[in-house]
Amino acid sequence: MSNKIPLAGVIGSPVAHSKSPRLQNYWLHRYGIPGYYIPMDIAQADLRQALDALPRMGFVGVNVTIPHKETVLGLADLVTDRAALIGAANTLIFRKDGKIHADNTDGYGFMENLRRAAPDWVANSGPAAVLGAGGAARAVIASLVEVGVPEIRLSNRTRARADSLKAEFGAKVHVYDWVQAGNMIDGAAIMVNTTSLGMVGKPELRVPLDGLSPDAVVCDIVYTPLRTPLLERAARIGCTTVDGLGMLLHQATPGFERWFGIRPDVDEKTRAVILGA
Ligand code: ATR
Repeated sequence: MSNKIPLAGVIGSPVAHSKSPRLQNYWLHRYGIPGYYIPMDIAQADLRQALDALPRMGFVGVNVTIPHKETVLGLADLVTDRAALIGAANTLIFRKDGKIHADNTDGYGFMENLRRAAPDWVANSGPAAVLGAGGAARAVIASLVEVGVPEIRLSNRTRARADSLKAEFGAKVHVYDWVQAGNMIDGAAIMVNTTSLGMVGKPELRVPLDGLSPDAVVCDIVYTPLRTPLLERAARIGCTTVDGLGMLLHQATPGFERWFGIRPDVDEKTRAVILGA
């Protein structure tokens, strides 16, 4: 047994906006673990050296944010299947044998949050409609494919990005033009906004919801505000709505467990701690 104080953190640039330190330090305190979680602004040019040094300084792992999520895959010794599929990592584990293990827990966070917030939803309820084709969309689509959703309808302002996701994820993915995004909602059992539209300071997501069934589940990955205009509109139709904060919290649990040995609970208190930030 080592009596070293375990250290973890988040690496990115910029990193000051990250909610991870508040969340992880809250859990450390709550579970009485004598560790620390630190935000570290690391430039791209220093990334390799930082990943060499951190394990030797007592770090057990880090979260990874923009702009390093893709680059770290090339610097890791082991990459999980889901990180390879998504093409990015958000969690690194520094193993005792010196190897760096890269994982991506975004899709897990999305699915775990969905399961808790919309327990009646099942994968074979019907097609999924996904808006956006960035990094978050890749994680969401990967998790929907993994659980067996029969059809994924995808639309993005820049159609080429959606087409390339179809090329990767295969025949289940059907691409719609951005101006016709409203059409893909017809008969969908779940709709997910992975764009930044609806976020504070950004325009609203203006997709028509006429075709949306009250039985559908509507998820937003935006969490500022918590109740986005999309979720408000969906709630008025009678849909079950799932906010983006839960995905943020759940994606953090596998890292905490691997680093500190306890699976943290995502409960109302945890949400309140982050909302109070
Ligand atoms: P992330 O990795 O967080 O998903 P991203 O790769 O920048 O971030 O993706 C942001 C998503 O929001 C993209 O789907 C983007 O559409 P484009 O691929 O056309 O850029 C979408 N997005 C951002 N601003 C938008 C806007 N004003 N209208 C429509 N889509 C927008």
